[in-house]
Amino acid sequence: DWTMGAFRAEAIARIRAQVGSGRVICGLSGGVDSSVAAVLLHEAIGDQLTCIYVDHGLMRANESEQVVGTFRDRFNIRLVHRDASELFLAQLAGVTDPELKRKTIGRLFIEVFEEEQQKIGGADFLAQGTLYPDVIESVSATGGPSVTIKSHHNVGGLPAHMRMQLVEPLRELFKDEVRVLGRELGMPEEIVGRHPFPGPGLAIRIPGEVTREKAELLRKVDTIYLEEIRSAGLYDAIWQAFAVLLPVRTVGVMGDGRTYDSACALRAVTSTDGMTADVYPFDMGFLTRVANRIVNEVRGINRVTYDITSKPPGTIEWE
Ligand code: XMP
Repeated sequence: DWTMGAFRAEAIARIRAQVGSGRVICGLSGGVDSSVAAVLLHEAIGDQLTCIYVDHGLMRANESEQVVGTFRDRFNIRLVHRDASELFLAQLAGVTDPELKRKTIGRLFIEVFEEEQQKIGGADFLAQGTLYPDVIESVSATGGPSVTIKSHHNVGGLPAHMRMQLVEPLRELFKDEVRVLGRELGMPEEIVGRHPFPGPGLAIRIPGEVTREKAELLRKVDTIYLEEIRSAGLYDAIWQAFAVLLPVRTVGVMGDGRTYDSACALRAVTSTDGMTADVYPFDMGFLTRVANRIVNEVRGINRVTYDITSKPPGTIEWE
């Protein structure tokens, strides 16, 4: 006879018992997990909680404004918004190796996060939106010989001098349960129902070197693609959909002129946990409509492809 209402009450009691009158910081990413964790913590301990949002400049269009608007203005949560895009882009200059990209971003995240937490006078606890599958994955990752496909920087990985006690109120939950809890907490559907978004952001959707210009281009493509998915009523039927900017230029024709511009790939998959995934079977009419819009509206893109690889053998993200 277990309900999310009961979980919510128990979780709040547990947070209060663990934290007492201590101060808690929580890294906010804009994703579902850290968002729900933050709102739950805020309900439990109010202004003892400060959220830190490290903005790497590799978010989707308008996402940072949305995060700040929602948490600071609507939920009245103490929020530090640090725009670190210059720093991240400078350090990513010349980096093309996917793992080095991930590690660079992960390292900077921790550096900037630590700077910000020192500015606000430190804290006694660090809250994270760790889910049950994260717990299992990181246990099995150390439990035997296994291959690291991609290094995720949001699980574990804190340097020793930042040793704070962890508060992980979602540790027992799966993704779908986190969404139910978010609704129970009165969170808006555009956060609770949001597709997963990787910590390294658009950087791992730009094979090759990441630049501000490429990120801008990708954001335009991505925005059109997601607009079309939403207006076709398909958003909730898809686990994740996004565009990838390909590091290749191809020849095209526009009006009476030749073009030589970038190609992009669209990806959409169904999944229940991100561990395996199937390609989403759009109809051809939808895909050609999106392709026409992209090529007509985004200067610099003249070719659109659809990624039809399932996972395995592909991964969801390209890097
Ligand atoms: P892959 O590409 O490994 O992705 O099939 C599986 C799921 O994980 C997401 N992903 C990440 N999430 N930090 C995250 O929080 C990361 O570094 C990261 N890398 C991949 C990916 O978007 C998909 O949902």
